[in-house]
Amino acid sequence: MESVQAIKQRFGIIGNTPSLNRAIEKAIQVAPTDISVLVTGESGVGKESIPKIIHQLSHRKHNKYIAVNCGAIPEGTIDSELFGHEKGAFTGATQTREGYFEVADGGTIFLDEVGELPLTTQVRLLRVLENGEFLKVGSSKVQKTDVRIVAATNANMFEAIQKEKFREDLYYRLSTVDIHLPPLRERREDIHLLFRKFASDFALKYKMPTVKLTENAIQVLVKHRWSGNIRQLRNIAEQVSVLEQNRTITADTLRSYLPTTGSNLPAIIKTSKSESDFSSEREILYKVLFDMKADLNDLKKLTMELMKSGNVKDVEKDNETLIQKIYGSGDEEDADYEESIDNTEVLSIPEHGSNNDDIPVALDKYHFAEEIEEEETLSLHDKELELIKKSLERHSGKRKLAAAELGISERTLYRKIKQYNL
Ligand SMILES: Nc1ncnc2c1ncn2[C@@H]1O[C@H](COP(=O)(O)OP(=O)(O)O)[C@@H](O)[C@H]1O
Ligand SMILES: [Mg+2]
Repeated sequence: MESVQAIKQRFGIIGNTPSLNRAIEKAIQVAPTDISVLVTGESGVGKESIPKIIHQLSHRKHNKYIAVNCGAIPEGTIDSELFGHEKGAFTGATQTREGYFEVADGGTIFLDEVGELPLTTQVRLLRVLENGEFLKVGSSKVQKTDVRIVAATNANMFEAIQKEKFREDLYYRLSTVDIHLPPLRERREDIHLLFRKFASDFALKYKMPTVKLTENAIQVLVKHRWSGNIRQLRNIAEQVSVLEQNRTITADTLRSYLPTTGSNLPAIIKTSKSESDFSSEREILYKVLFDMKADLNDLKKLTMELMKSGNVKDVEKDNETLIQKIYGSGDEEDADYEESIDNTEVLSIPEHGSNNDDIPVALDKYHFAEEIEEEETLSLHDKELELIKKSLERHSGKRKLAAAELGISERTLYRKIKQYNL
């Protein structure tokens, strides 16, 4: 049997807290059996490694491993995604399709955010767990499958059971073995270790020297509440690594990256799915970097023109639009930037699901599986808005500071503030 240390290395898991080690040990022990496992823990604590460990250490490892984010699949499609459908079962079902339970026969299915499953699907799931039987949607032919289930949830299942949103019998069936991952704030001794690992990874990735924290900064890091757990820590490490020129990070600098509200207050239980865990801030950062690069290219172009021509007036005339784009029109006070908003559209993440409510699109593709990284389907607009708001808050509305932090020009910030009606 592989040791806990070896597993950590193999799956890139950092940390040495006894509770983490125990969770991994449990995963190792339960792996060779077919027992259902429920992984619990707040969002961002690293639940997704557990089913992978279990699958890889089981006799099923040569068969399929399918990860399904139950929260991301529209209610109308989920039965068909999981169990397949018969041709003609509903409008748009032009051909018979196999569901994940058929495809993963002999393998493992990871049901992430299992608390989000609709009650009707819960009935089907219970049946498949009890005797391996299921029916395709629109079919009366009982099919057999041999699938091992690992589920995960960050929701309070007891509350869901009480509110009759989750079947109690299914809960007990799923949680034969419960593996709990502690929140990061209960693993204080791992926080700096994780930060160092992420900082070193990002230094490699972005080809920059690794950022280092001062003693005081380490204190700030360790004392922070980390409500978004490791995912949030990783994001902050990335932001600091990309944006800070001085590679020695002081407590003040680090603080400017941390959300101020609730840092040491009791946990606010998030029920709304729109609460992000900063999972897309990275994309906004990329966007900011792209914007900067575009600005830089424009400037380079202008400089070249100037060097070639030597006549400022000519260059000014020939490059009117470019100059306007870079420096603005100059009348910041009442500037109406509406016309330039079109050029500043942010990248948009393709939304899950269909744009046609009643007909599931591309049912024959397993397009919801393995997409757990993008569990928050908030658009990048919302993310950008959130980031701008936070930055303005942090700097008490001072645009200059916020713009500097966001790495955009004041003018761009002004434009965005107008765009979002802030
Ligand atoms: N112990 C750990 N060591 C290194 N990275 C981790 C660890 N735990 C989580 N991560 C990283 O944190 C992020 C969130 O983990 P994830 O498994 O998606 O969380 P959850 O499913 O619990 O919300 C991922 O990028 C993951 O690689
Ligand atoms: Mg997850």
